[in-house]
Amino acid sequence: MTAASAATLPPSVTDLRRRLPADFAFGTATAAYQIEGAVAADGRSPSIWDAYCERPGAILGGDTGETTCDHYHRYAADADLLGWLGARFYRFSISWPRVLPEGSGRIEQRGLDFYRRLLDALDRNGVEPWVTLYHWDLPQVLQERDGGWAARSTAEAFAEFALVVHDALGDRIAHWTTLNEPFCSAFYGYAAGTQAPGVVDGPSAIAAGHHLMLGHGLALRAMRERRPDHRFGVTLNLSPVEAATAAAADQDAARRIDARRNRFFLDPILRGSYPADMVAELPQVDWEHLVRPGDLATIAQPLDLLGVNYYRRFVARAADPSGASAASASPAADTLVDAEAPAAAEPTPHVGCEDVEFVATGRPRTQMGWEIDPEGLTELLLRLHRDYPVPPLYLTENGMAHADEVGADGRVADPERIAYLRTHLEACADAIDRGVDLRGYFAWSFLDNFEWSLGLERRFGLVHVDYETQQRTPKDSAYWYRDLVAAETPRL
Ligand code: NOJ
Repeated sequence: MTAASAATLPPSVTDLRRRLPADFAFGTATAAYQIEGAVAADGRSPSIWDAYCERPGAILGGDTGETTCDHYHRYAADADLLGWLGARFYRFSISWPRVLPEGSGRIEQRGLDFYRRLLDALDRNGVEPWVTLYHWDLPQVLQERDGGWAARSTAEAFAEFALVVHDALGDRIAHWTTLNEPFCSAFYGYAAGTQAPGVVDGPSAIAAGHHLMLGHGLALRAMRERRPDHRFGVTLNLSPVEAATAAAADQDAARRIDARRNRFFLDPILRGSYPADMVAELPQVDWEHLVRPGDLATIAQPLDLLGVNYYRRFVARAADPSGASAASASPAADTLVDAEAPAAAEPTPHVGCEDVEFVATGRPRTQMGWEIDPEGLTELLLRLHRDYPVPPLYLTENGMAHADEVGADGRVADPERIAYLRTHLEACADAIDRGVDLRGYFAWSFLDNFEWSLGLERRFGLVHVDYETQQRTPKDSAYWYRDLVAAETPRL
């Protein structure tokens, strides 16, 4: 594709492009379980998500990842579509149970071959791969054998998996992220139980979080030893958290939510320590047994980049024990406004914060129920820049779900998504103007896909997928993004 002439593009595109650095990297993102389907093909074993999907009522509409976008068979056409879109990077994840069906040990060559075919197809289209090693699809065999991420052995198995993939595909991939959103794996998976493996046990969630980060450190160290020239990082989902009022109880509620969602991951990874306040207020966790000598140094490997996924802010307050505030708190719990939880009365993912509720601020919401808040993104990026020794940042996910439909004219009109992407990219530009070293932006998602517990109904894609026919239709937002990434870079 040739770069579009700035003169033919609308000002909404050219003005925005001018505000971002000339070498700013654009991309799109997906994850294996959300798009691949073909769950039993070529020796793949079940993942914890296959098992979780079998639980009655676990997934909205009874959907599963069994077929989803059938990308496993349609990867070549999908890569052509990525080439048409023209964004430099495509961020995708590698399915652990395709590569190591027994969790560790025996390598399934056919699984690796699939990713090599995908890499070839991307290469033909001039698209650079950006790989995530763990996007939530742990081999079920490791869950059954050891208890999944609650067990230390899973961190070691992850490092083995990472090295197998890196050894096999490292000649073709320069950008590596170890984990995607360990908050969700640990706290929705093991505390709220609204994601796989669906465990509800606070101390297990903390153990899972520690072992995920330990796995990240072990894997990163091992891969870097082999290829110091590659760029390694991790992707965290982070959110600004603010108190609903100046009252001490609400301030404290916000501090505790911030600890669980943000600092529990940022502090060990970037500073080599756990947040002291959170450690002190969770005595039910056997921290000494869990965090062994040397673990924190392993977790705090230097990073070449930090991936940030941004979707929303949280406004927290202490629940009124009399229940009097419940009517004005909207919705009452994180689980209600959050993607990963179909039911309102689920246990909280925020271990030790059972008394905290979340307040709506009245901003418009997406199909997920999440408030649209681009200023929160600027605030978050500025906070990272100010409070942490961060490496170069990449926004590895941002986007919105919307009930998109193909119109009679064959078009998918999604002006809301265009506005969402534009305002969030402007928020990125605002942060860059104020000194943040933000190097790139990945739209979530390339395709509509399987949105975990919320099934196939929540559409995040730039490209619409008809799940009956597997027809792909680029939405208006795809054309807009294509124009943006093709716009001539500013000449200053
Ligand atoms: C975060 C996750 O990484 C991704 O898998 C999910 O689909 C999006 N957010 C939207 O919820």
